[in-house]
Amino acid sequence: MKAKEFSTDAAVAALLRGLAEAHGLDLTPYDTTFLRKALEQRVAATGCANLAAYGGYLAEHRAEAAVLEQSLHIIYSEFFRNPLAFALLEQLILPGMIEAKARTGRGEIRVWSAGCATGQEAWSVAMLLDELTATECAPPIAYRIFATDRSEPDLAQARTGHYSAEAVGNVQARRLRTHFSRHGDAFVIAPRLRARVEFSCDDLLDANSASPAASIYGDFDLVLCSNVLLYYRAETRQFIIDKLCRALAPGGYLVTGETERDIVAKHPGLRLVAPPAAVFQKKKPF
Ligand SMILES: C[S@@+](CC[C@H](N)C(=O)[O-])C[C@H]1O[C@@H](n2cnc3c(N)ncnc32)[C@H](O)[C@@H]1O
Repeated sequence: MKAKEFSTDAAVAALLRGLAEAHGLDLTPYDTTFLRKALEQRVAATGCANLAAYGGYLAEHRAEAAVLEQSLHIIYSEFFRNPLAFALLEQLILPGMIEAKARTGRGEIRVWSAGCATGQEAWSVAMLLDELTATECAPPIAYRIFATDRSEPDLAQARTGHYSAEAVGNVQARRLRTHFSRHGDAFVIAPRLRARVEFSCDDLLDANSASPAASIYGDFDLVLCSNVLLYYRAETRQFIIDKLCRALAPGGYLVTGETERDIVAKHPGLRLVAPPAAVFQKKKPF
């Protein structure tokens, strides 16, 4: 295979047109480099000589389009995945939020974990909020976490709250004791936390939805959307960031993956709170 021929934008664009026409599959929102790597892998896996040959393969093997689409679906997640952001949340942002809510009497803390995959991000925030609100001297503040993904199978896995010993590898021992129970080899999220997290299907690219339907009106104090933007092209990233920014209450916080920090930092409605952590605050008013 000639790498140069493979990677021309024209060759990729032609393949994408074919996928849209023959399979109704629109892959244009994805980042070109990410897409090209996925295509290279499928070309190799199917034994095709180049991208043009892979186009022919797609025409002859209708199931291959779904395999290609699935290969773009990256679901890797971890508990407390962005340590810097979670340290900021635990030590500064969430305590400040709790105090402000208690002072103003303004209801509950509302959190959206967007692109939550199998739930680790949502449960991690639930653990922090549980710890910060459950102490005797803490103000009696309620919290709700709306966790969304476009993938129903991953949400179903998230809802079970079951994780392997490997999956909870970087959860501190004291948190394993407090927030999980052991069922055989599995670590299972405590019912106390389950009552606070609602998982539902939501596509961030859907122009007709502003925030998870289950949340009714958005107005989030905290939105986490980590390791999602990087898979999309610039215009799509902008669309998602605009949507997340609109869903935040004034002064609310957005957390992204660290590799996504510089993309989000350009948004006029957000200010970077404490670099290098990828934590932003919505400017007031915006
Ligand atoms: C790499 S995982 C990141 C999971 C978690 N946020 C983390 O950082 O550990 C990316 C997740 O984003 C979801 N996703 C990608 N595009 C999406 C979209 N347009 N709408 C909703 N979820 C999306 C995928 O289904 C996947 O579960």
